[in-house]
Amino acid sequence: MIYLDNAATSWPKPPEVLKAMVDVLERAGGNPGRSGHHLSVEAARVVYEAREDIAHFFNISDPTRIIFTSNATHAINIVLKGLLKPGDRVVTSSMEHNAVMRPLRSLEKHGLILDVVPCASDGSLDINDIAKAIDSSTRLVVLIHASNVVGTMLPIAEVAPLAHRTGALLLVDAAQTAGVIPIDMKISRIDFLAFTGHKGLQGPPGIGGLVIGDHVDTSQIEPLMRGGTGSQSELEEQPEHLPDKFESGTPNIVGIAGLRAGINWIMDRGIETIRAQERKLTRTLIDGLSNISGIQVHGTHDPEKTVAIISFTATGRQVSEIGLMLDEGYGILARVGLHCAPAAHKTIGTFPEGTVRLAPGVFTTMDDITTAISAIEKVVGL
Ligand code: ALA
Repeated sequence: MIYLDNAATSWPKPPEVLKAMVDVLERAGGNPGRSGHHLSVEAARVVYEAREDIAHFFNISDPTRIIFTSNATHAINIVLKGLLKPGDRVVTSSMEHNAVMRPLRSLEKHGLILDVVPCASDGSLDINDIAKAIDSSTRLVVLIHASNVVGTMLPIAEVAPLAHRTGALLLVDAAQTAGVIPIDMKISRIDFLAFTGHKGLQGPPGIGGLVIGDHVDTSQIEPLMRGGTGSQSELEEQPEHLPDKFESGTPNIVGIAGLRAGINWIMDRGIETIRAQERKLTRTLIDGLSNISGIQVHGTHDPEKTVAIISFTATGRQVSEIGLMLDEGYGILARVGLHCAPAAHKTIGTFPEGTVRLAPGVFTTMDDITTAISAIEKVVGL
């Protein structure tokens, strides 16, 4: 089997991640921050240490500004639904995933003003176009860091000062970049970073987070959910302090322990080493597919401008048929269709059928890539 669906979820997971998840249940299975007994205290320590490591990983001074969520979608919803009010203006791109577009379209029905800046057909965003869209009425700029359809990266570092110049905040959807592209909250000046644990960070599904920039005033954000936090239990109102304001209910300590182990595994290996390997695989995949007659490789063809996500279509062939033949005939696992990102497919010209998406990961070898290219050549040549 050759697993090329790491953009949907990375697989396999490092053994250290699995071990950490079993270990936390065996050794620290209490409810963190709720009880005073040693199993609860030990569970709280696991959560505390994970928060510290994640804060270090994204370079943020205050670990309480790491909010644990179920996934990136949950983190994005905390910001969009908590911050935005009717009449606010939001600028976003035409490459966004439905994790961003669905909540924004829903808020639009309640008075939000939405400005979707068109990207080019390779998924890139012209900085001049977004500069023109941001003005003093813009409350928030929301951008995907790298497209989940074609991998093209958006110019986040250049957008941050444009947003801040007029008092807007910047929310970045890092579902496809956390763990494969270095992200420094201080250097990039990102205000909100939504990430998921189960992709590049090598953790399990069901855990993600929101990183809130050190300087962001959180009193302006209403919690998405309210409930028990283990703190200020004498109050029937939600605490205002972080992270409790945005974390209600028993946390996913198994997921948190796995996420922490995944992040530490990445730091041991070196994110630059991971990125360099993925760049080589991406280059080979783009070149190999581009040489096959009838195949169109979508997105940028420059591995410096993309993460390891490659989408293609083949003239006269249905993407679902190609995906099925790759799976059943060659054991190659890809994701076909619209990838929950209809706006992105409209932008690159592959709506409504979508593409075949190949997403190598940290365990993908060059042999896997060359085998996949020759299998795809056979499948599309049939
Ligand atoms: N958002 C994930 C993907 O692109 C699930 O496949």
